[in-house]
Amino acid sequence: MKNKINIAIDGPAAAGKSTISKRVAEKLGYVYIDTGAMYRAVTLHVLNTGKGVADNLDDVDIRFSNDENRSIYLNGNDVSAEIRSPEVTANVSEISSLKMVREYLVQMQRIIAAEKGVVMDGRDIGTTVLPEAELKIYMKASPEIRAERRLEEERERGVDVDLSTLIQQIIRRDDLDMTREISPLKKADDAILLDTSHMSIEEVESTIIRMAEEVLKGE
Ligand code: CDP
Ligand code: CDP
Repeated sequence: MKNKINIAIDGPAAAGKSTISKRVAEKLGYVYIDTGAMYRAVTLHVLNTGKGVADNLDDVDIRFSNDENRSIYLNGNDVSAEIRSPEVTANVSEISSLKMVREYLVQMQRIIAAEKGVVMDGRDIGTTVLPEAELKIYMKASPEIRAERRLEEERERGVDVDLSTLIQQIIRRDDLDMTREISPLKKADDAILLDTSHMSIEEVESTIIRMAEEVLKGE
């Protein structure tokens, strides 16, 4: 039997990380871990309790369901929809920049990936969480294209928002994520750069599967 590898997928908001990671994991029979959802769940908890972050981390229990929905549970409640609210999106980068939040979640992410066979997406997976991952991808796309992708998603959810607002929000969040002090969003030196601006989901998926098969051949 082939050995399993870990695949790290990083990049800015709406580059396609979670859509592609989910499909790649399914194809390989691997586990998909959305680390952004973990930072969003902590942010939701902080907003809900109104207490400082330090008083909150001890009573945060985060779990994912094992089915294809990959629902996320915060202290036993399914918060998959709530963590995508505009309020959480507006606050998540600030909460994510805090050392104690990052240390807490990074430790959890490393435990999950210890047995390999994980596709993990986020901002610091290739640089910090899994620097030894056998395959690292840094996914990018222009801010305009990423905002258009988000616009389509919001419209499908019935949310009324305009493109220029989404472009501004995406640029602001990228800027916070790239300039924070602790593990900022950055391409790892050994990550493969993949510009998905003009690629279909199927093209991105098959490109990464090919790369994974190449790595697996050498394992
Ligand atoms: O899906 P979207 O691109 O909107 O973002 P996300 O992946 O859900 O991540 C939400 C936020 O969590 C990011 O903007 C980062 O501030 C933070 N994050 C992080 O700091 N480190 C990670 N590994 C993943 C997310
Ligand atoms: O996880 P991340 O924030 O990087 O992106 P996402 O939540 O997967 O959202 C990307 C959106 O762009 C989804 O609605 C996809 O259907 C769409 N898309 C894509 O992911 N990749 C492409 N090559 C083209 C479109």
